[in-house]
Amino acid sequence: MKFFIDTANLKQIQEAQSLGVLDGVTTNPSLMAKEGIKGQANITQHYIDICKTVSGDVSAEVISTDYEGIIEEGLKLAKLHPQIVVKVPMIKDGIKAIKYFSEHNIKTNCTLVFSAGQALLAAKAGATYVSPFIGRLDDTSTDGVSLIEQIVHIYRNYNYKTQVLAASIRHPMHIIMCAEAGADVVTCPLDAILALFNHPLTDIGLAKFLADYKKSQ
Ligand code: E4P
Repeated sequence: MKFFIDTANLKQIQEAQSLGVLDGVTTNPSLMAKEGIKGQANITQHYIDICKTVSGDVSAEVISTDYEGIIEEGLKLAKLHPQIVVKVPMIKDGIKAIKYFSEHNIKTNCTLVFSAGQALLAAKAGATYVSPFIGRLDDTSTDGVSLIEQIVHIYRNYNYKTQVLAASIRHPMHIIMCAEAGADVVTCPLDAILALFNHPLTDIGLAKFLADYKKSQ
């Protein structure tokens, strides 16, 4: 399973990259705004900076909602850097645009996916990634991880190549449950990745090993 980091914060991206387990980055307009990146020129430069920081795919989201606008924006984004994946919303014009991009060998991430039917459409259009938002589903008393299981099952039935990218991850158990469900990718806040390190028995065990070593000196 690939680990992406879900942020536009360069320091966090660098920290995750330094762990040696990072495979890519996802951003969205809210994450860019959170970092105070304003104006198209700065946004563009920020995507390039992110691409220089990691070696894997970097999702950059279009803000157009009409077919022509999505195509124009997506083509510009794809030209910025070979690692850019054009992130397109799950709407009719978005699916049409994903079909166009897939026919032109441009990688896509179909975002804002909340149902198996939407995921089926994304796969049929040839999306590289599909992003079901599991945390936002949990927020509505709907089991987000079950949706991951359902989509993985459907994609395996038909050997669809679209990768299931579990998004809107909130905590380390989401990561583990997505791994059990067979997600291809999880995109996570840095805290959720770092939380995977934690176990009190590791801390206790290491303290004892070091203390015993000291005694033997
Ligand atoms: C990533 O691709 C999504 O935009 C992101 O995971 C959404 O996360 P949120 O529900 O925490 O905003």
